[in-house]
Amino acid sequence: MTIATAPAKIILFGEHAVVYGRAAIAVPITHVQATATVQDEPPGSGCTIVAADLNSTARLADAASDDPLATAVRKTLARLAWDGPEPDVTITLRSTIPIASGMGSGAAVSTALVRALSAHLGTLLNDDIVSATVFEVEKLYHGTPSGIDNMVIAHARPLFFVRNKFIETFLLKVPLNMVIADTGIRSSTKAVVGDVRAAWEANPERYDNLFKAMGQISVMGRPALENGEHAALGALMDGNQWLLSQLGVSSSQVDRLVLAAQRAGAMGAKLSGAGRGGSVIALVNKETQNAVTEAMLQAGAKSVTLTVIS
Ligand code: PMV
Repeated sequence: MTIATAPAKIILFGEHAVVYGRAAIAVPITHVQATATVQDEPPGSGCTIVAADLNSTARLADAASDDPLATAVRKTLARLAWDGPEPDVTITLRSTIPIASGMGSGAAVSTALVRALSAHLGTLLNDDIVSATVFEVEKLYHGTPSGIDNMVIAHARPLFFVRNKFIETFLLKVPLNMVIADTGIRSSTKAVVGDVRAAWEANPERYDNLFKAMGQISVMGRPALENGEHAALGALMDGNQWLLSQLGVSSSQVDRLVLAAQRAGAMGAKLSGAGRGGSVIALVNKETQNAVTEAMLQAGAKSVTLTVIS
């Protein structure tokens, strides 16, 4: 039996702008994760995929061509240049990452699957190859993903990312205490990214300026993260949130949670991911973490979790 896990992620700076070639920063979140288990079955059984959280079981041979899990299996086999009959295995997937909330649940499940299946079949793929394989799956349900989700999840390290140009992992000097609040509102990345594209096409100059400013925030955010300058980091998060609201991807519930966190003493707060729901993140310290958690719950968050990013 082979087991692999993959973390969740949050985007600290630059979501949406990253689609337009601007810099973004994402970090892995390890208190929730996706797990894939691969078990041998008797010869001739074929490949079965079990999505344990969804109570669903499907045979690879019967799965639709756009089924994300089956696609992850097929892309992995292609990557391994597997030319025999499909492997006789059961692949079981589990995840504690909230779905459609900007935490990369889909990319994490695919990453765990690609890693576990390739290792079970005798090949350890490196992080870049795992990421590239997952990216092919991501394209199925995101349309035009920037690739930041699969990259940060495969590398499981803080990541400075410029699409098709520059990718670098880096270390944090001081761990970040971050509160992650779930608005409880599921949001489709594909739909929000599509709306932003339509707005950009209608008014390219305005939106290019917003993307440029977001990219500059990511560039300034990296040294602040590396040097543990948390006050500066918080201010950059607030600035990024203002730009995201100008972009039209915030929402009244996101705004309520951001304001509640700021009033309760967070150093900064913003949405994370596609927006219009999903997750709101707030930078806190030991003194403010309980008050911020309480304030975000009071303001209507469905759940609030404290996590340490290192
Ligand atoms: O999938 P989410 O909600 O984490 O959002 C992805 C971030 C975007 O920048 C909005 C899209 C992308 O492909 O980078």
